[in-house]
Amino acid sequence: MGSQSEDDDFPASSDASLLQDDIRVGSRRERLGLFSRIAIPWWLHLLLLALSLTFLITGIALRIDDGSHCPGDWYPMIGHHPPLKTVRFDGSFDRSSSFKGPPSPSVDAAWAKILPVGGMSIPETVFQTLNASRFASKVPDIAGGGRLALFEAIHQIHCVKSLWMSTYPDYYVDEYKFSQEEPEEWREHMDHCADMLRQKLMCDADATLLTYNWIKNHYGPHPNFNVQHKCRDYDRILEEAERHKVDGSLFPKGYFIRPTDTSVVDFEEPPFDPEASE
Ligand SMILES: *[C@@H]1O[C@H](CO)[C@@H](O)[C@H](O)[C@H]1NC(C)=O
Repeated sequence: MGSQSEDDDFPASSDASLLQDDIRVGSRRERLGLFSRIAIPWWLHLLLLALSLTFLITGIALRIDDGSHCPGDWYPMIGHHPPLKTVRFDGSFDRSSSFKGPPSPSVDAAWAKILPVGGMSIPETVFQTLNASRFASKVPDIAGGGRLALFEAIHQIHCVKSLWMSTYPDYYVDEYKFSQEEPEEWREHMDHCADMLRQKLMCDADATLLTYNWIKNHYGPHPNFNVQHKCRDYDRILEEAERHKVDGSLFPKGYFIRPTDTSVVDFEEPPFDPEASE
């Protein structure tokens, strides 16, 4: 009996344990079910929340950090070009600089380094984004194709240099001779340069602040021009100008002139309207 009962008990207990297992399995399923219906979405919510917070904070940090997400920081040919370099200007009246007078071959060499001669060719796809005159001069295929272009910064430096040179007529003899022989053209060029720089400086509206110092033997406060600025990288301009420069030696006369094999649209003056054809 005992064994029988044991035998009876055994399947019974075995059933019971199976049943218990079922219950346990069932409850585990139930727990898993609860987990999958409630706990997993919670973790997903937390994960997504954490992710979106990360993106939000990174976005804010980037904006605060470098102010580099303004539309004005993107340029064709250069791409992302924000003013990130901290540079303290040297604005002292009585301190020399490589670019200041008196003029000399070494001063000229310093200017020449930041003033590459000649233009560059830009791809037609870039040209199409500029809203420039659609009859803008093309670069012949032998010299790279596309359109002839120049970085404004290079033209602006050229203008400062021309104005500065005109204050040293004894040294820059050729320029002085030109100013005497073609006074009208020379005056037009100087006025053009001063007015281009005026427009550029007003366009940038640099809100950096100058402060003042007391200077020995001066009765009034003296402006301190040694101001920390945020600057774009001028070397990027030079690199890109060099990379895409139009090589004059590829042309029969050694420089770029009016083509003889195709017709061009001639203007009285460079047009304002991109669509203008005369
Ligand atoms: C292109 O330039 C013309 C003339 O200055 C101007 O009227 C037009 O709004 C400009 N288009 C764009 C897309 O900037």
